[in-house]
Amino acid sequence: MITLKNVILRRSAKKLLDGATVNLNPGEKVGLVGRNGAGKSSLFALFNGSLHEDGGDFYVPKQWRMAQVAQDMPETDDSATDFVVGGDTRLTELRATLAAIETAYEANPEDADIGMELAHAYTDLADAGEHDAVPRAQALILGLGFKSHELDEPVNSFSGGWRMRLQLARALMCPSDLLLLDEPTNHLDLDALVWLEAWLQKYEGTMIVISHDREFLDAVTDVTLHIANAQLTRYGGNYSKFEDMRALQMEQQQVAFSKQQDKIAHLQKFIDRFKAKASKAKQAQSRVKALERMEKVAPLLAEADFTFEFKEPGNIPNPMLSISNASFGYQASGESEDAAPKTILRGVSRSVLAGQRIGILGANGQGKSTLVKTIAREMGALAGEVTEGKGLNIGYFAQQELDVLRPQDNPLEHMVRMARELGSNAKEATGEQALRGFLGSFNFSGDMVKQPVGTMSGGEKARLVLAMMVWQRPNLLLLDEPTNHLDLATREALAVALNEFEGTLMLVSHDRALLRSVCDEFWLVGRGVVADFDGDLDDYQRYLLDEAKRLREEAKVAVREAATAAAAPVAAPAVPQQRKQDAQERQQRSEQAKPIKREIAQIDERMAAASTERTALEARMSQPLPAAEIADAGKRLKALNDEIGRLEERWLALSDQLEALAA
Ligand SMILES: Nc1ncnc2c1ncn2[C@@H]1O[C@H](COP(=O)(O)OP(=O)(O)OP(=O)(O)O)[C@@H](O)[C@H]1O
Ligand SMILES: [Mg+2]
Repeated sequence: MITLKNVILRRSAKKLLDGATVNLNPGEKVGLVGRNGAGKSSLFALFNGSLHEDGGDFYVPKQWRMAQVAQDMPETDDSATDFVVGGDTRLTELRATLAAIETAYEANPEDADIGMELAHAYTDLADAGEHDAVPRAQALILGLGFKSHELDEPVNSFSGGWRMRLQLARALMCPSDLLLLDEPTNHLDLDALVWLEAWLQKYEGTMIVISHDREFLDAVTDVTLHIANAQLTRYGGNYSKFEDMRALQMEQQQVAFSKQQDKIAHLQKFIDRFKAKASKAKQAQSRVKALERMEKVAPLLAEADFTFEFKEPGNIPNPMLSISNASFGYQASGESEDAAPKTILRGVSRSVLAGQRIGILGANGQGKSTLVKTIAREMGALAGEVTEGKGLNIGYFAQQELDVLRPQDNPLEHMVRMARELGSNAKEATGEQALRGFLGSFNFSGDMVKQPVGTMSGGEKARLVLAMMVWQRPNLLLLDEPTNHLDLATREALAVALNEFEGTLMLVSHDRALLRSVCDEFWLVGRGVVADFDGDLDDYQRYLLDEAKRLREEAKVAVREAATAAAAPVAAPAVPQQRKQDAQERQQRSEQAKPIKREIAQIDERMAAASTERTALEARMSQPLPAAEIADAGKRLKALNDEIGRLEERWLALSDQLEALAA
């Protein structure tokens, strides 16, 4: 059990916890929630021992193994698979132990004690799951959205976001009693997110997860810990239950509640207006549901000390932009300038009209960000044209925007610099006093306008970037995962502001609640094209599952076809001339594939036999045996493991060859 008793926790002058008393039981799945800057990440620092309590008592069972996601960017040329396998700390330790004993054994093969140690080391390693460590790691990596050809690529060949996914996989790889996850969904797409939910639902230890994603929390937690005003409160229930309970509590505080009535009235008016509009279409229906939910949380939202709005854009061109027969893609990094660029999307012809609210859907790596970046002029179209309407003013928000902030500078310095850069084009007052006032409306109070950005929490930084974007008064918003790091109240505030925004919106997000509440239509980016997605988010989730199934089936069929092709002689029917050549090529490839397939079949057979023997041996070694027999069994086990390792490597190499032939 984790116990906090009267805990006081500080960060410089700020008191983050003041007399926190809470118990967490083994096996509980806990959501840790609270506003940006409330102290959630700092509480994790207490849990993992990198920060100490300033008062009171804090206790975590000593023998608990803890797994958490490292926050640093990994810089190694180990393969993705090896890196993730390395996350299993117990396995890594046992491997090191085994290596040491093996060295001793080689120096002195007649020593019975060493033989015994060797046998024990093998058994321990087998118990720790050595034999399936690689497939376990690879299942995690693939689940988080990597492609199978990336499994062996070096870690430092991936971009930042993808390396952080590998860090997540590494944490999940580690067998643990306590799993700490600080905003694990930030670097994920919707499909990887759905996969992670399913994985966490099967996790058996105690889990504490910090997240601002309501649907994710509801799916994976059953207890909620809330930090507010330096108090830590435990609620039995997932996030939605917690919200209901909070709302009830607040209603009971009648005085405070009545003060919030005009905020609620404002929201209500807006809800009514949209309900009237949104009646028939299926997408609109789901938006009505989202609005009904907003109605329910209105008191909570009203409690939020912060709402904002986008200023009415000066003018709104229509169409905003039109794309005709364009191809999108990028110049692969590390390749020379004149290497052929990589085309991801082709034949894109679409117009974006004034007032449209488009959610952009699509699996990992299908080109959502490429599409958005091209429209944002961060990169050029490879072919075709993107024509902008006159007076188009794009507000672009992307994940990497956080890197644009300068850690040494404070929020005010950022605003001043931006105002200066925009110069006479700026549509807002640029005086320091005005800028301070503006920052204040984004909850950067007196002290915080002078706090270096580097010491701010993730959500505080994201809020600053958002403020800087609003200040520029855009008429087309291009938002690529804007809610990462933002707390729920700020997300609600963003959802309301986006709903009231009069310009056009294009949104990429894995935040289902946000997509539901602000988008009227969806584009689907996939299989090299951009198409309308006819349906709502539930349909999309079903589509993702179907796609995954389809891909699995396709893989199966390919294997089956390859197998039949190898088994059955290829008949030579009379074919028209133009197809003859194709057929010949196919036949040639199938001829080349034959010996490879034969060897694969042999390896499969040998691996099955070796695995069976290994399992039997392991079973025997778990029984009490005479020492000499144990040592023999240990030697045999080592030989088997070595052989299986070699077979697996060969198998992989062969299937790569097969794949290359099929391509
Ligand atoms: N080194 C530091 N110096 C000064 N203030 C700090 C320092 N580290 C953190 N803080 C402040 O302490 C508060 C708590 O930070 P913490 O990162 O724990 O918040 P959080 O709840 O995780 O927020 P978020 O949801 O945005 O991640 C923030 O207001 C932050 O600005
Ligand atoms: Mg945090």
